[in-house]
Amino acid sequence: MVDSFILGGFMKFFIDTADVDAIKTAYDMGLVDGVTTNPSLIKQAGKDHEATIREIASFVPGPISVETISTTTQGMLDEAEIYQTWGQNIVIKIVMSPEGMQAVKYLSAKGIKTNVTVTFSAAQALIAAKAGATYVSPFVGRLDDIGHNGMDLIEQIRTIYDNYSFQTKILVASVRNPIHLLDAALIGADVATVPPKTLQQLFKHPLTEKGIEQFLEDAKSFSTNG
Ligand code: G3P
Repeated sequence: MVDSFILGGFMKFFIDTADVDAIKTAYDMGLVDGVTTNPSLIKQAGKDHEATIREIASFVPGPISVETISTTTQGMLDEAEIYQTWGQNIVIKIVMSPEGMQAVKYLSAKGIKTNVTVTFSAAQALIAAKAGATYVSPFVGRLDDIGHNGMDLIEQIRTIYDNYSFQTKILVASVRNPIHLLDAALIGADVATVPPKTLQQLFKHPLTEKGIEQFLEDAKSFSTNG
């Protein structure tokens, strides 16, 4: 965390969706440093995979994670080769598995960016870093769902990575609410990937709404606009 301050780093906001309109809206507000997708999000968006990623890549300059679906290392590498032709800044998202880590090691040696996904333990994050992953994605919301504290995991990974100066970036995923985002920033995570609904929640505060309402009411006394 100290390093990120010295180097002037700050927590990046990625958006966790394949909904192009939602990405555009958030991007126009300066809230999109990158995009993460997965097979479930592509299914939810209901459009062609390649066309969707190409469209996102046409206006988002930051990293766009695209997930491989093969279960073999070679299959993942073949998919990675195709995905890289879909945009300038494609990150190959690979599941935590022995086959996956072999693919990550190979890709990182070639300078291709990777994101190790569906991780739930600090040991898995350590393995991902050893393989040379660019990002590791611990799923905090899904840990909370089964009665664990997802943010405790982020703290552990931060400590381990800082202890040994691993360059792998902690990308907090499965973010479900603004508190997850705040905790990620307090711990010093490198990135939080946030679904559009949670991004909208960040704007909300009852005192903000009340304050705006009052200003608009008072403005009627002198405004000619309405
Ligand atoms: O990018 C994958 C991750 O964010 C999944 O979130 O809400 O399906 O657990 P969720």
